[in-house]
Amino acid sequence: MSPYSLVFFLLFLPLLPFLKGLIISLLPYKSSRRLPPGPRGLPIIGSLNLLGKLPHRSLNDLAKKYGPIMSMKLGNVTTIVVSSPQIAEKILKTHDLVFASRPQNEAGKHVSYGNRGIAFGEYGHYWRNIRKLCTLELFSAKKIDSFSKMRREELVMMVNTIKEAAKAGKIVDVSDLVGDGIEKMTYRMLFGKTSDVRFDLKGTMLDIMDQAGAFNIADYVPMLGPLDIQGLTRKIKDMRKTMDKILDTFISEHEEAASTTRPEGYEPDFVDILLSVSDKSEEKGGDLTTLIDRDSIKAILVDMIAAGIDTSRTTIEWIMAELIKNPRILKKLQQEIKDVVGDADIVEEKDLRMNLGLVKVRQIVAQLVHSFDYELPNGMSASDLDMDEKFGLALPRENHLLVLPSVRI
Ligand code: HEM
Repeated sequence: MSPYSLVFFLLFLPLLPFLKGLIISLLPYKSSRRLPPGPRGLPIIGSLNLLGKLPHRSLNDLAKKYGPIMSMKLGNVTTIVVSSPQIAEKILKTHDLVFASRPQNEAGKHVSYGNRGIAFGEYGHYWRNIRKLCTLELFSAKKIDSFSKMRREELVMMVNTIKEAAKAGKIVDVSDLVGDGIEKMTYRMLFGKTSDVRFDLKGTMLDIMDQAGAFNIADYVPMLGPLDIQGLTRKIKDMRKTMDKILDTFISEHEEAASTTRPEGYEPDFVDILLSVSDKSEEKGGDLTTLIDRDSIKAILVDMIAAGIDTSRTTIEWIMAELIKNPRILKKLQQEIKDVVGDADIVEEKDLRMNLGLVKVRQIVAQLVHSFDYELPNGMSASDLDMDEKFGLALPRENHLLVLPSVRI
């Protein structure tokens, strides 16, 4: 090889993966693998253009054309879309082990400390380890019960806020109010407090969740990843730094407090529990597949925030909207709750034994239904209430649920 061709070769060497990716993505979508039917797709973007503003609805329409199991290219990622309960059961239950890992994405990598959490982590020894830890230590019936007093306090505050609004004839934003209550319950359970004057805990977490859910072209055309053309990776890295500082401070403060005598009746929060388990595994001299280290703790905390807040808030928002839209069902439910709790102000958890996600949802819905009647603002009739949804991890309402409450009990 002449020196010139050698220089030429070396200069182009780093570009080879990029060029290969480009050539492959420009080739018409044709695969030697036997894939289920699906739209053909364009070069580079595949069928991304077919997803629209509400991808779950577009996929539903496409499934009517191509069937309950279809394949499509999102960018140059081949994706199989399943749209029937029977096939979903096969994937999520019968063949759970094969499909247990979630696809990796750019934001996930940074937000979950290099996939050290449950939500983005790859199925394997470490994942099974931390999942078991969460099931046994964080979500045991005993542990969930230990936070019931705290949840009740937040619930009472929620009811009082609505009562004051009802007396003043003011509109209540159910979406915001419930979201705020759930957020406080979650932060108290994780960190032992709802906020901290030194940090914008709520704002930082909201930004992170928004960014983590944003559409990043690098997830679908991976060769574009290093270019970060939307600037999303840079943004998420900056936000992670802010979040990391908050979590580090909280964890260090819990470590210091653990070495002092706690006040009587102190209920350990999730940081306390995770720290106590992390000590144990370090003593065992575990490697990365068994070690619950500081990054694991942070990643698990981020998982709980991402998985626990919007899901519960959105579920309640939709249930309340459906009930308000169907006054006959609302009345029936009010009677059912009254049969159990009588004229008591507060619906207690003991009336509704459930796991954490459900206990929050059930108790808040039962309480809102029990304590208040609802009208819609500006004389709007129940049948006119919009049920538009917005795309997101938990598909919330497009418009917040606004009501005019009146006190029943
Ligand atoms: C109504 C409320 C909730 C709904 C609708 C909901 C829904 C879901 C769904 C659909 C999954 C995916 C399951 C899978 O892929 O197999 C999931 C996973 C998860 N959820 Fe929830 N969730 C709720 C509340 C919560 C709460 C309150 C927490 C914790 C504070 C939580 C923590 C998690 C975690 C850590 C995962 C990942 C677990 C895994 O991959 O095995 N969720 N949730």
